[in-house]
Amino acid sequence: MKIFLDTSDVEVIRQHSETGMIDGVTTNPTLMMQSGRDPIDVIKDISALFSDDSSISAEVVADTAEEMISQAKQYYSISSNITIKVPCTEEGLKVCKFLSDKGIPVNVTLIFSTTQAILCAKAGAKYVSPFIGRCEDNGLSGIGLIESIRTIYDRSNIGHPPEILAASIRTTDHVTNAFIAGTDIVTLPPSILKEMYKHDLTDQGIDQFDKDWKKVNHK
Ligand code: E4P
Repeated sequence: MKIFLDTSDVEVIRQHSETGMIDGVTTNPTLMMQSGRDPIDVIKDISALFSDDSSISAEVVADTAEEMISQAKQYYSISSNITIKVPCTEEGLKVCKFLSDKGIPVNVTLIFSTTQAILCAKAGAKYVSPFIGRCEDNGLSGIGLIESIRTIYDRSNIGHPPEILAASIRTTDHVTNAFIAGTDIVTLPPSILKEMYKHDLTDQGIDQFDKDWKKVNHK
């Protein structure tokens, strides 16, 4: 049961990493744009906050496998905790196979079907990222997709199938349901992680305990 943060905001990642709850980070081109910084510098800063066995996904953006591989090499030279994120296209999966054969972890992103997830497993991906929220935006069941991928991987004869990394998470219910459906990891916007801590009854309970504690006769 792993939790990743889905952001390129280094300061926010630093704060959450101090809680010990975070196992990794995912970024994407949109999140990089929002950071307003050079992606290489952002990945360097994030990577430095985590141990070698964490996973920091850095996404390559190019039309050809050759260009993607050259970007991937730049990212992977930063640290061994970098995971290369590629889109689920023919070129992306070619890159996935090439890098995976060299022992470089790959996260295949923008997964919307079980057949894509099957190809990712064949290409040796370490992670597959089904996008729950965007599935639902388009009338598809994101949670159903995770359930089906889980079933297929569990029934396959692949020794080490990819870890399922549930992405595009918009609610805390997505988190719960993704784990029920068998995801290995969720990647969360920081706002959803914050919500996971909260419950009205916890706040009410603390208020009551605080009031009562003041009335305790301390020696
Ligand atoms: C995951 O790796 C993606 O960065 C992310 O979860 C996309 O989420 P969105 O659909 O909310 O943009």
